[in-house]
Order: sequence, then C-alpha cells, then structure tokens
Amino acid sequence: MSLSRRELLKTSIGTCLALSQIKAKVFASALSSKGLKALYKDNFLLGTMLKPEAYLRETPEFTKLVNTEFNAIVADNAFKWMNIHPTDEHWDWSYADEFVKFGERNNMYNVGHVLVWHSQNPIGLFQGEGSDLKSGDVMLAKLEEHITTIVTRYKGRINAWDVVNEALDGNGWVNNEWYRTIGEDYVAKAFFAAHQADPEAVLLYNDYNLSSPSRRDVLVDYLSKAKNSGVPIHAVGMQGHFSLDFPNLDDFEESIEAFAEQGVRVHISELDVDVLPGLGPDQFPDYAAELDPYRDGLSSELEAKLAQRYSEIFKVLIKHQDKIDRVNLWGTTDGESWKNDFPIEGRVNYPLLFDRKLEPKAAYRAVAELKSTAI
Ligand code: XIL
Repeated sequence: MSLSRRELLKTSIGTCLALSQIKAKVFASALSSKGLKALYKDNFLLGTMLKPEAYLRETPEFTKLVNTEFNAIVADNAFKWMNIHPTDEHWDWSYADEFVKFGERNNMYNVGHVLVWHSQNPIGLFQGEGSDLKSGDVMLAKLEEHITTIVTRYKGRINAWDVVNEALDGNGWVNNEWYRTIGEDYVAKAFFAAHQADPEAVLLYNDYNLSSPSRRDVLVDYLSKAKNSGVPIHAVGMQGHFSLDFPNLDDFEESIEAFAEQGVRVHISELDVDVLPGLGPDQFPDYAAELDPYRDGLSSELEAKLAQRYSEIFKVLIKHQDKIDRVNLWGTTDGESWKNDFPIEGRVNYPLLFDRKLEPKAAYRAVAELKSTAI
C-alpha cells in the first residue's frame, strides 16, 4: 500500500495526537493514584479544611479523596468559641471530638483552629454591666481558662494550634474587644497558656493579607519583641485567601522570608483563589448579576488562568520549602468553599482544586505537574 505525502502527514499527525492523548491519560492516572500528599512529601504537609459533613456524616468517596490527597486537616468552625464554649458553663465537644478522631483514624496532622479571635464569639462574651465591657482581669481569666481547657483536652492529639487570629493590621493592634479589655498582652498570655497546657504542640499566630508590606512589618516587629520576651510562638499561619491577581507574589515571597528570619516556621493555613469580581465600596453588600458571572460554569480561559495562578503560587512555595511546614487549602471542593458566600452570599465560586463533583480541576493538574518528576 502506498500513501501519498498528504496522507502520510495526516497519519503521522494522527499518531502524534493519539500518543500525546495516551501520555496525558497515563500521566493523569499516575497522578490520581499517587495524590498530592505523596507528590509533595519531601516539600511540606498538604492540608485541607473539613466541614462537619466530612467527619460526622462520612461518605467513603469523600474520605478516600481526602486521604489520597492530604495529610493535614483543620476544621472550619468546630473549635470557634461560639461553638465549642457557647456560654460560660457550657462546652460543646461534639464537633471537635469527632474532628480529632477523624484525624487520628486517618493519620492526619491535626490542626486546631482557633483559640482567640474577635469573630464568631458568643453574644455577650465581653458584656459587663450596662454598656461597659467586662474588666481586663475578668477577661484574662476567661481567656486562660478557655485555652487551658481546650488544649488540655486534646493534649498530644492536636499537632498545631492557631492560637491567635487576626490581632494585628498595618497600623498595629486591631482595636477589638480583647485588646480593649486586656490590652496588647492578651496575645502573649494566650500563647503562654497554650504552651503550658501542651508543651509539644506547635503554636501559630494566624492572619490574612500578610503579603502586604505594612502588615508584614507590624508582624515582624511583634515577632521580634515576642522572641525577646520568650513568648512561645513557633509559626506564622499566612491564611492565603488569594485572587487571580492579588497579592503580588514578590510581596508574598518577601513575607515568607521575613517571618522565617524571625526564627519561626511558616504555614500557609487557608489557601484558596477567588475567581469572582471584587467589590467596589459602593457595591457592598448589594447583589448584582455581573458580580456572579459563572453560575453555569467557569470559562475555559479562566480555568486556565486559575491553573496558572496555582502553579505560580506553588512554585514560590516549593522555592521556600525549607521555611514552610504545611500548605493547607481552605476546603477540598469548590462547592464547600466559604468563598461562595463571602463577601456576598450565594454566588458560585471556583477557588479550590476539586470541582463540585469531586473531580480534579486543571488547577489540581498544574499543582501536581510541578512535581511530575516525583512520580
Ligand atoms: C470561615 C468559615 O469557613 C465559614 O464557614 C464561616 O462562616 C466564617 O469563617 N479566616 C479564618 C477562618 O480564619 O476562620 C474563616 O472561616 C475564613 C477567614
């Protein structure tokens, strides 16, 4: 049989295409059988955030996915003061206990989030007589009792604690109720109490927008003072609620370096990448269709942009792996992300590595491909 040049060309293009498709398939199945935690085993722990559905009403399919891909977990709301300690006398361990047991069953690095924050506290926590706040002494006793009770209960079973969340901004101390009652000392006291209750646990200061130079400077300044006075802060949790063009990754890198220079480890504690339009000050909190443009699916162009963004972020993380112990996504699938409801409720967002059907996205493949030589 003799083939014309054109037919020969067609055949060889066809063969090349088929070959590259086969290669892509082989690569995809190699990735899916390995999972990200194996690909990144020499770099850092890879974590996900679990909602109660994952550990209270376990489905084999979801548990398998979490186990294949991740070796660290954090709960979204189970340990927050309003849930775990809703009134002075009442503790509700039902969620936190199950979360910790899930982690133990599945050999996870368990992270407790969060002991002290200005948000998601019980109504009336700070309320004193009339319109006054309770006194500093009373609030300090409450803070210490809260931390000691929780950390002691899970001693040796929670590897790392987000001890204090969002206490500083670009100007210094956030003027929240903890600050107004106890003063700036509340942060140091919180770390000392947690350390006393479990001396082995890794203790984190956790915050958002830490790539911002002014916020970075304020935290570096605090870390240096804390170090001099022996405050047991072992790591900074950089939340990592990113978007396609924010933050600038040079700033992100500089912050990782600056915190590590203060002698603390870095955890990326709540990574996700928002693809929806941001809000102008006059739009908040009004809902508008143009602010929710991907209800029927993400365009392939944006899918590729998201993958590229994840790839760039993970390149920075790999570069600084010597300073980073854990990279934690704030959720596994797009459907469970808080970004569908923040800062506007009820939008359809795509910030994570798995889609609503538990399938890996292009962003997942981009993150895995950076480590393809590890397969
Ligand atoms: C979010 C949870 O994911 C939501 O379910 C809840 O409604 C609000 O809080 N920074 C933090 C997390 O430290 O605790 C927040 O979690 C996301 C922002």
